[in-house]
Amino acid sequence: MKKILVTGGAGFIGSHLVRLLVNKYPNYSIFNLDKLTYAGNLENLSDVENQPNYTFIKGDIVNAEFIDQFFKEYKFDAVIHLAAESHVDRSISNPIEFVQTNVLGTVNLLNSSKSIWSESYQDKLFYHVSTDEVYGSLGEDGLFTEDSKYDPHSPYSASKASSDHFVRAYYDTYGMPVIISNCSNNYGSFQFPEKLIPLFINNIVNNKPLPVYGKGENIRDWLWVEDHARAIDVIFHSNKLGETYNIGGHNEWKNIDLIKLMCSIMDKKLMRDEGESQKLISFVKDRAGHDMRYAIDSSKLKKELEWEPSLQFEEGLEKTIDWYLSNEKWLKTVTSGDYRNYYESQYSNRQI
Ligand code: NAD
Ligand code: TYD
Repeated sequence: MKKILVTGGAGFIGSHLVRLLVNKYPNYSIFNLDKLTYAGNLENLSDVENQPNYTFIKGDIVNAEFIDQFFKEYKFDAVIHLAAESHVDRSISNPIEFVQTNVLGTVNLLNSSKSIWSESYQDKLFYHVSTDEVYGSLGEDGLFTEDSKYDPHSPYSASKASSDHFVRAYYDTYGMPVIISNCSNNYGSFQFPEKLIPLFINNIVNNKPLPVYGKGENIRDWLWVEDHARAIDVIFHSNKLGETYNIGGHNEWKNIDLIKLMCSIMDKKLMRDEGESQKLISFVKDRAGHDMRYAIDSSKLKKELEWEPSLQFEEGLEKTIDWYLSNEKWLKTVTSGDYRNYYESQYSNRQI
């Protein structure tokens, strides 16, 4: 039985990936290591928690001693590394936490993998899940390719860029079998409502203001999270050691256009008059260092591994809105406690 460690499996993308792997590969043992920060929630995996090929372990990747012991005990064949601090606004308020988890945590995992694989790298893999934000910001034209220069601007993207460099350094220096993928913005079920789409769904439901940063002209390339999980599965099984793959949705949206589309879909779902939810839009002070545009060229992935996004955005967005509307209990649970304090500190002084 192949033993695969997924880190950060209780988070948004991690939980979709764990679900896919547990259901699709009964002959793999899937281990999910997660610290369960505010963003990690075991409810995200309640449908697979009793499967015989699934094990959850609570732990912190920053704790080198624990990670080393843990790897020695389980002797994983492969690691798919998603655990991270993932929200740009939080990284602006607390960069150190991002350095610890995203940089140090990654290096701890690399070291422990190297140590348990010291006899042979045969059939072993360290797969690092990263973001397109490491490439910085695009102007009006062009797309990020695998050869784009690293140019991170936020503490989040700088920490992810640093972790990517460490992963490549372990390939170059120690010959460790690694693969990296850099994906665009994900959307879908189980995303913590601090990121744009679930935050705005939650605020529209509760008739709260929709805080649009700056003029709302920034552009993001949105990908359905289950398509990302599918891409990770394909890349994981590709045996393309040392390679990088960009994953994207060919789906660029200006924030304000996306927000207006969400408002209009939700007016219908909530039986509100057309235009009612749009009245909640409130332009607030821009995010510091706000990247203008992200867009991914994923032609390498399509050409070499035949992956393509499966879902049209309008369909995916409606599915996503339906999921949040019918999972009110999940939303209520995750929006209590720490979330409230965080929300207050982010937005109380932001009105312009
Ligand atoms: P998330 O914030 O929803 O989940 C992160 C998970 O990591 C949580 O379950 C959390 O508890 C866990 N975690 C955090 N610190 C930890 C630590 N020290 N030890 C162990 N576990 C820890 O994030 P996400 O959106 O699912 O992103 C997952 C990965 O994908 C990240 O590496 C992120 O950089 C990358 N990524 C995300 C997006 C996106 O749009 N969300 C896009 C591209 C790449
Ligand atoms: P976000 O979901 O935080 O992802 P990222 O910054 O990693 O791309 O934000 C997506 C876009 O939405 C980004 O341009 C910032 C903007 N945004 C707002 O305008 N208001 C908000 O409250 C949030 C969270 C994001």
